[in-house]
Amino acid sequence: MNQPLLLVEEKKQTILMTLNRPSVMNCLNFDLLYALGDEIDKLQYRTDIRCVIITGFGEKSFCAGADLKERASLTPDEVKKFILTIRNLLTTIQNLPLPVISAINGIALGGGTEVALASDIRIAADTASMGLTETRLAIIPGGGGTQRLPRIIGVAKAKELIFTGIRVNAKEALKIGLVNQVVPQENLLDACMDMAGMIAQTGPIAVEMAKYAIDKGIETDLATGLAIESNAYRVTIPTQDRVEGLTAFREKRKPVYKGR
Ligand code: COA
Repeated sequence: MNQPLLLVEEKKQTILMTLNRPSVMNCLNFDLLYALGDEIDKLQYRTDIRCVIITGFGEKSFCAGADLKERASLTPDEVKKFILTIRNLLTTIQNLPLPVISAINGIALGGGTEVALASDIRIAADTASMGLTETRLAIIPGGGGTQRLPRIIGVAKAKELIFTGIRVNAKEALKIGLVNQVVPQENLLDACMDMAGMIAQTGPIAVEMAKYAIDKGIETDLATGLAIESNAYRVTIPTQDRVEGLTAFREKRKPVYKGR
């Protein structure tokens, strides 16, 4: 029986999605993009889930980008369709109301790094290697990489990485702010689950609104960003969870948030 291209596990209040094409470094073909899209769409209304972790199967590769063997068989119009599909999928991932953590367990090139860039938080194994290497194939990043990389690490460094197509190791990725944390390979999923666990202790609407305020506010001027923050804050004021937070503080107990 064929293995599923995407493994999906629910652990506590976290969904772990594992790209599962290890024989080709978990690279992205149409079918894997569709499988990932279907699972991401299911999360739009799962209020019981607090975090998503995306990783790659095995210890060698997170994701080696677009499937270059499939690509070689595509017509120019099909290539356009692939690029539109990955761009829309990564935008959907970025816009999920839940935090998304990429657990970068090894090589992340091209679209692999773009999946990580569309995530909210990147935690890398010490063996990871990342890069937007597309210019080496005489193309450019098409899944949002030219836009998200400079927003995360700054324009100058993003240009250096994209113009040269170089790969950076985990230590360098941490130094330039491309990843949040580097941990030993064997601790990677535990580190991601620990972060997901901490997120699960917070108010769900608060985190959703914080993500919204940061992502929308960063795209605009400070005054508009502050207005976005103000409106996002207002959403939290009438919630039961806000009252529960204050009550739990007074009663010296842990709050139980319900996302209401
Ligand atoms: N598309 C299709 N197949 C890929 C792939 C990709 N993006 N990346 C790796 N593979 C396949 C290899 O062709 C090989 O398959 P084979 O055994 O049938 O030949 C298998 O995965 C293992 O890769 P291999 O190159 O033997 O491993 P390696 O450790 O020597 O190198 C990489 C790993 C990822 C550095 C190298 O495969 C590579 O550079 N891949 C292309 C990455 C890329 O440019 N991505 C951006 C696309 S826009």
